[in-house]
Amino acid sequence: MSGQDLHPGAVLSPAPPSATFLSESPEATAALGAALGERLAAGDVVALEGGLGAGKTIFVKGVAAGLGMDPDAVTSPTFALVHEYGDPKGRCRLFHLDLYRIDHPDAVQGLGWDEAVGGRGVALVEWADRAGGWLPRERLDIRLAVAGETVRRILVTARGGRPRDLLGALLEAPEWGSRKPPD
Ligand SMILES: Nc1ncnc2c1ncn2[C@@H]1O[C@H](COP(=O)(O)OP(=O)(O)OP(=O)(O)O)[C@@H](O)[C@H]1O
Ligand SMILES: [Mg+2]
Repeated sequence: MSGQDLHPGAVLSPAPPSATFLSESPEATAALGAALGERLAAGDVVALEGGLGAGKTIFVKGVAAGLGMDPDAVTSPTFALVHEYGDPKGRCRLFHLDLYRIDHPDAVQGLGWDEAVGGRGVALVEWADRAGGWLPRERLDIRLAVAGETVRRILVTARGGRPRDLLGALLEAPEWGSRKPPD
């Protein structure tokens, strides 16, 4: 019996494209965020994963800079759960969410979730897995893993056509810090 007989209707889907970046400093992680932020537009959703202190908020600060905003204005929304930045210098609004403290995916609905991911701005979501099925299917997944005191391995996975373009642009980005030759 062939596999198809066993699993009628099953479709083998190719793995979504992904790339791993190595960051050796907080500044390099922010620079990668900035390279992405320069390319983001309203409607883009970025799901950030990685344990406490992995560098998710540092990455978001970089994104804010890439959008033209003041990165120092970005602070962790761990207690407010969502921060909305409408810096007039920025190219578009930035919604920064931290879902660490929600106890059920449906709790995102009380946080203005639809507004955040609904196209009025760019949405960056820390602890995005907490949102479960509410996460849009089309998104950029960014997983930061601690690989040393100041080293982070950053896995970027593109889910959908637009995220694939963003990942492609990131791979080309000359301004990303660690791509510079060592002094
Ligand atoms: N290469 C690196 N990239 C990012 N952060 C780094 C790096 N090396 C060291 N760090 C340090 O790791 C910490 C990352 O903190 P940050 O608040 O960004 O983490 P987080 O993932 O948002 O954590 P939380 O889940 O608590 O919100 C900072 O203290 C930063 O200085
Ligand atoms: Mg954080």
